Amino acid sequence: MRAPITDLPVMFDSVTVRAGATTIIDRLTLTLASGSPTFVVGPNGAGKSTLLRLCMGLARPTEGQMTWGGRTDPKPTRRALVFQRPVMLRRTASANVAYGLTHADYPREKVAARTVELLERVGLSELAMRPARRLSGGEQQRLALARALARDPELLLLDEPTASLDPAATRSVEEIVRAAAQSGIKIVMASHDLGQVRRLAGEVVFMLRGAVLERTLADDFLKNPSTPEAAAFVRGDLVV
Ligand SMILES: Nc1ncnc2c1ncn2[C@@H]1O[C@H](COP(=O)(O)OP(=O)(O)OP(=O)(O)O)[C@@H](O)[C@H]1O
Ligand SMILES: [Mg+2]
Repeated sequence: MRAPITDLPVMFDSVTVRAGATTIIDRLTLTLASGSPTFVVGPNGAGKSTLLRLCMGLARPTEGQMTWGGRTDPKPTRRALVFQRPVMLRRTASANVAYGLTHADYPREKVAARTVELLERVGLSELAMRPARRLSGGEQQRLALARALARDPELLLLDEPTASLDPAATRSVEEIVRAAAQSGIKIVMASHDLGQVRRLAGEVVFMLRGAVLERTLADDFLKNPSTPEAAAFVRGDLVV
């Protein structure tokens, strides 16, 4: 029997991304395998979003190579990306999720039941019939997570999903992320929030100017960063 197709590990082999004369990602070599959540941290412009877009296959290396489960074809099988600001269809919350399922070729007769289950999973059952664009920012982000989970991902990429949320909404999103991680989904999440790193991360990839400066267990990163740049970042100094 053939092994099932998997997207993991995602491997970067000396990947460079350029936009005109600007180098956005600079000879990055990194392996993202299953396991505890990986947090991608670093100052604005470090390349975090670009790294996630590369993982998703939305950006392509200018140089170097990437593989997903050993394949060079970036066609996503079981991965999903949630952006900082979700884009909602002009339909109900429920229809937004159902649309995602239909597009993932989910068996038609099961779409309704699965939609109910996914809305439940993100705590939005009561708002199922509300137009998605009339949900609060936090509710929209939870809906975006439901849509991402509808793809039954083994890899869930999250680009600062709580950056514009208040503490209560942040906590709801973090609970969904934690539950997803516990169910075996590999989380790769960009964040600026060191409290969030402490609460959720297994390991940290610290980026600066398109390169990975440090990769370490979250606890070590917070207590004992090994580069001066990471130490400054953890102290809250401006790192540019
Ligand atoms: N298409 C593009 N053309 C030119 N420069 C770009 C392009 N896309 C990204 N960049 C630059 O690449 C750098 C990395 O961007 P990226 O969005 O990956 O950083 P980031 O770490 O996610 O930053 P932030 O914390 O602000 O979200 C930035 O300096 C950005 O301006
Ligand atoms: Mg970003």
